[in-house]
Amino acid sequence: MEDWQKYKRSSKVVWTTDGQFPSIEPHTKVKHQLLESYLSDWVATITGNCRFGAQQVTLVDGFCGGGIYRDGNSTWEGSPIRIIRAIESGWKSVQERKPYQKLDIAYLFVDRRKEHTDCLKQQIRDHGYGHLLDSGIIQVKSGHFEDHLGECLQWIKSRGGYSFFFLDPFGSVDLPGMSKAILSLGRSEVLLNHMQNDAFVRPIVQAFKNGRGESYLRQYNLGEAYSFCADYDNLPNLQRQTLSQNAALELYRKQSNPRFAWTFAFMKNRDTVYYYLIHLSNQPTAVSVMRRNLWLYNNLDYQFHYGVFGLGYRTIEDFSSNLKLLDINTRNNQACRDRLTEQLDRFLHKTNNLAFKQIYEGTVDFHPATREDCMSVIHQGMLDGLWEIERDGKYIGSSQLTNRDIVRPSKTQQLVLLPDYASGRISPKRQVGSRSSVAQMKPSHFGQMNILETDI
Ligand SMILES: C[S@@+](CC[C@H](N)C(=O)[O-])C[C@H]1O[C@@H](n2cnc3c(N)ncnc32)[C@H](O)[C@@H]1O
Repeated sequence: MEDWQKYKRSSKVVWTTDGQFPSIEPHTKVKHQLLESYLSDWVATITGNCRFGAQQVTLVDGFCGGGIYRDGNSTWEGSPIRIIRAIESGWKSVQERKPYQKLDIAYLFVDRRKEHTDCLKQQIRDHGYGHLLDSGIIQVKSGHFEDHLGECLQWIKSRGGYSFFFLDPFGSVDLPGMSKAILSLGRSEVLLNHMQNDAFVRPIVQAFKNGRGESYLRQYNLGEAYSFCADYDNLPNLQRQTLSQNAALELYRKQSNPRFAWTFAFMKNRDTVYYYLIHLSNQPTAVSVMRRNLWLYNNLDYQFHYGVFGLGYRTIEDFSSNLKLLDINTRNNQACRDRLTEQLDRFLHKTNNLAFKQIYEGTVDFHPATREDCMSVIHQGMLDGLWEIERDGKYIGSSQLTNRDIVRPSKTQQLVLLPDYASGRISPKRQVGSRSSVAQMKPSHFGQMNILETDI
């Protein structure tokens, strides 16, 4: 059995059964909401999308904490309670439609501190899920997750079905190595908290200042990605941030070997990412569902932040009352669609006769668009005379594509950068937003934008 590296780190008791709970921060609330809404959609999708969907699902929270936070005079549920609630509600919505379907659900919650797992068990009962503890559907274990993982993987292998791992350790743990083992299960995925600033960039920069940067990178197997930290103090801030995002993704792409990897940034201020939530998976469906949910919580401006930080959330004190939110959402969506139109056009000219499934899965790691956006952009491109869509040997005009529909450049092809509707082949019903705004975007040379800028 593999041993995952353990890092030395102090660990405080922050949850107890006699009412000691940490206070919740705004960014942690968003992390929890994202987790909950994703899992509710996820379970509904994998169990509900075909006549007999998934038969087993296993949910693992490897660094689970005590399950509850202080929120002013009130309380706020932590990740384990939210995971249970999300699965219960997503599955209930499917059961109402498909009462004949069965689902074997299991939860495993691990925390190295017994005080935390004791507190969590109490919270699980207080939230009305005690019967799931008593029946063994929920298991709560104390100890290092690294020590439980081997057995946990064997257990999931024998159960079969789909699994989801939430890894939120608040510190350095061998997340790339553990994620690789988890993804090798097959129908598994990981949502992890990568503490980019405190656990990676700051200690690495410090190690370089102390003359042992290279050996630090070797010791923790951080490869080339973080070597930019050698010159960190001399880099302009935007370049630091783009290199930093690139480093986080590269680490997992190389070491965990996921088919799809994507970041969501949590920022404490305008300039610095505090941590990334990183979603690693091998399942296109999981990517589509996650993508929709990430857009729900993104409050960064696509045009100005995407190339540097990717999608993400920045804590802004008065954000809930900020009426500009709507403008940002609309503008973000339009900029993303415009950009995708250009990218897909280049892509479709390089390839030929690709099915929608191949187009979406072949490009999704390189743009932030949802599956629905991708479909709608292709439909718009067809209306604009850029591309043709073929289904069973006939050209179609449907906005609902199936995975097998073939998309190719139109024979009366125009370049996408020409003004909209230049071809006049089909008179447009809807107008695509101005592309000049996209043309003005300053290309970044790093990070996700870098991949976007190169031909996909
Ligand atoms: C950030 S808290 C988790 C919060 C929880 N995910 C939530 O959102 O409600 C991190 C937890 O990981 C636990 N922890 C730290 N290292 C661990 C390890 N190696 N194995 C298991 N738990 C660990 C800590 O005791 C702490 O309770």
